[in-house]
Amino acid sequence: MEVVVLRYGHRLIRDERVTSHCCLVSRAFGAKKIVICGEQDPTAIKTLEGISKNWGAGFDAEFGSSWEKILTEHKKTGFKAVHLTMYGQPLEKKIKQIKKHKKIIVIIGSRKVERKVYALSDYNISVTNQPHSEIAALAVFLYEALRGKKTKFANAKLKIIPSSFGKKVKKKTRATG
Ligand SMILES: C[S@@+](CC[C@H](N)C(=O)[O-])C[C@H]1O[C@@H](n2cnc3c(N)ncnc32)[C@H](O)[C@@H]1O
Repeated sequence: MEVVVLRYGHRLIRDERVTSHCCLVSRAFGAKKIVICGEQDPTAIKTLEGISKNWGAGFDAEFGSSWEKILTEHKKTGFKAVHLTMYGQPLEKKIKQIKKHKKIIVIIGSRKVERKVYALSDYNISVTNQPHSEIAALAVFLYEALRGKKTKFANAKLKIIPSSFGKKVKKKTRATG
């Protein structure tokens, strides 16, 4: 399954850190791309460029001018829209059905999300019906939707050797993939 994340309503300064974390979660949990809509701000994209340099490329982040345009364009090319909201249907009830789709665009909010997002989405999905965070909701959703998908990043300079104690990191002097 191909997954694109749409970050709705990014605000300068206030959302910088959270949006950066949404980018990192999207990348690590197997999404292909994140499109950030709202106030133009290169911070998140710069953070990601630094991460990709060391930990490998293959994930894209970009700014979009209008969330509605991004969403409708993706829907036209066969993407199903999943909006993560505490008001939605429980993830555990719908995940089986969602996993049948080949292409998904996942919408996560920041500020109050307008009604049109709910209406244009094919699924409004909750990760518990309690208020929490877009970072947490996104991580849980991607983990459930893409479980088992091994994410590969090209030209990584650093690779972690999983170990029970301490930190083991393999460094490549010349990046090879
Ligand atoms: C911090 S919340 C702010 C929500 C905002 N106050 C509103 O009323 O829409 C930001 C985003 O986190 C996500 N989120 C928070 N709690 C969630 C939950 N229980 N299930 C799914 N997504 C959730 C939603 O995408 C939401 O738009």
